[in-house]
Amino acid sequence: MQTAHRFDHIGESVIREMTRLAIRSQAINLSQGFPDFGPPPEVAQAAVDAIQGGLNQYTITWGYPPLREKLAEIYTQRLGWSVEPDEHIVVTCGVTEALAAAMLAILNPGDEILILDPAHETFRPGAKLADARAVSVVLKSPDFRIEREALEAAITPHTKAMILNTPHNPSGRVFDEEEITTVIELVTKYDLVLITDEIYDRILYDGRVHVSPGGLEPLRERTITIGGFGKTYAVTGWRLGYAIAPTPLARALKPAHDFLTICAATPLQAAALAALNLPESYYEQMREAYHARRALMADILTELGFIFTLPQGAYYILADYRHLPIPQAQWNANRFARWMTTEVGVAVVPGPNFYANPEDGEGLIRFAYPKKLETLHAAAERMDRLKG
Ligand SMILES: Cc1ncc(COP(=O)(O)O)c(C=O)c1O
Repeated sequence: MQTAHRFDHIGESVIREMTRLAIRSQAINLSQGFPDFGPPPEVAQAAVDAIQGGLNQYTITWGYPPLREKLAEIYTQRLGWSVEPDEHIVVTCGVTEALAAAMLAILNPGDEILILDPAHETFRPGAKLADARAVSVVLKSPDFRIEREALEAAITPHTKAMILNTPHNPSGRVFDEEEITTVIELVTKYDLVLITDEIYDRILYDGRVHVSPGGLEPLRERTITIGGFGKTYAVTGWRLGYAIAPTPLARALKPAHDFLTICAATPLQAAALAALNLPESYYEQMREAYHARRALMADILTELGFIFTLPQGAYYILADYRHLPIPQAQWNANRFARWMTTEVGVAVVPGPNFYANPEDGEGLIRFAYPKKLETLHAAAERMDRLKG
């Protein structure tokens, strides 16, 4: 049977594979980035109410109207231009769909899109779906800084767009003003479209403040701003995200979304509106809880001898295991991550998974810590054997 060549060099998601391996091995799952706690009760109740109240059919393709109105209000403030619910917003089935729809909307076959490695594993396949070429620019460990020279060197006459994920998974970087200025200069100089992935926009540490690049004047006309609900409200299984873009870009996005999915789940969109109506105290408590999780995870890994940089945002630690006092520390990252999962009982993601050139991620594994503190303590107990 002949199948398409589109996915010849793209296997299944390694992150999801690690979750399946974790389930089979009864490992504590610190691989895939999802919480082991639920959403706020009022958000869960809003979903139940929506289903029982009859919101069970397709909603408008661009999203449940009251949700889009609320998003328009929030993003008009954030982006500094008048975001119209009917014109500029598309509610999608997760950030994953928003990214794929954005790439389908702007890339022609043969176009190139810049991706900063390490990168979330959905970016490259998204470009493939659009028959475009993902061009990687490696952010060097341990600082993971965007450097102008490296970024500019990757731009060719075929470069059409760039994806910027901030706060960044898996490095934990929140790109600073100097780096964003570099992005602004190059995106405008080379007439690119910027696609932002801001799924961790509410998970920042040490008083950092999230800035949506699409709100900065030179980028307003050329940015597709993407956000999601899964991480902020602990509902990754609800598959809800959105894209916000100026009219010409939104017009191209809409048919991509329409014919991929028709619409995201209606009752869950109603519950997402309840989430957006949560008081500011919800976010303050969530940030506090994530500071505690980050501190615990960092203490555990430091004590064991992992080397890493403390995340500035999001909820991952990308750690170098090569100095652990055990023979397995000499293994490659794929073998080490699988051993961690099946033998140690703590599932992690191998670093090479985040790089176009797997060599660049050798010696690294990613821990996800959106977990109850007791889960992280239990993982620490299991990892005791890494002390040799
Ligand atoms: C940077 C980044 N983008 C996108 C996604 C996927 O988002 P969603 O579950 O909303 O599709 C993730 C999930 O971990 C992520 O870390």
